[in-house]
Amino acid sequence: MQDLFSETRPHKQQIAPDIWLLSNFVDTKPLLSLVDTITQSSPFRKMLTPNGHYTGVAATNCGKFGWVSDKTGYRYSPIDPINKNQWPALPSTFEQLAKDAAKSADFENFCPDACLINRYLIGTKLGSHQDKNEVNFKQPIVSVSIGLPAIFQIFGSQRSGKAINVQLYDGDVMVWGNSSRLIYHGVKALTENSLDPNQKQRINLTFRKSH
Ligand code: SIN
Ligand code: FE2
Repeated sequence: MQDLFSETRPHKQQIAPDIWLLSNFVDTKPLLSLVDTITQSSPFRKMLTPNGHYTGVAATNCGKFGWVSDKTGYRYSPIDPINKNQWPALPSTFEQLAKDAAKSADFENFCPDACLINRYLIGTKLGSHQDKNEVNFKQPIVSVSIGLPAIFQIFGSQRSGKAINVQLYDGDVMVWGNSSRLIYHGVKALTENSLDPNQKQRINLTFRKSH
């Protein structure tokens, strides 16, 4: 559910060079039921990081490769380390959405082979980082927001400092690549939405070409 302000936003907005916000781009209801199916075989889990802490965000994956973290580091794996099976296949709806969004942001021929699914509960944040575990950085990143609104922070070429804050609502898609492919970015702690107190989470789908 979106607030009244969001209804007045442009459909496509350039946030910075090679960073686009596609507002209200997709109906998320069908996406959520696909996420439910995926998590029946590959459930959400917090991952151990090399510094010995668990991620605040719970995550799973679908597609040929999944992003995983453990005490040895971050990488892409074709296997879910929990159930030792391949990750669930990338649903065609997801693939088409990622391609359509990339194209709308002028990135032609995006062919994602990985979809990271993040779940944020109230109070969960994601610290500033670069997406740099992929083999090549020629393809963009497509990031879909489902559920509660969140503030996406773009720090640019430095890990910290002054950020561009982008309010993301259910159905919004961010696309970044080329000169901005390696920007530092993060997500502020999720807060409850007083207009919609039954909503308790935000899900984010991040599509990437990992190999
Ligand atoms: C990420 O950077 O991995 C997730 C971004 C988001 O949740 O919007
Ligand atoms: Fe990221």
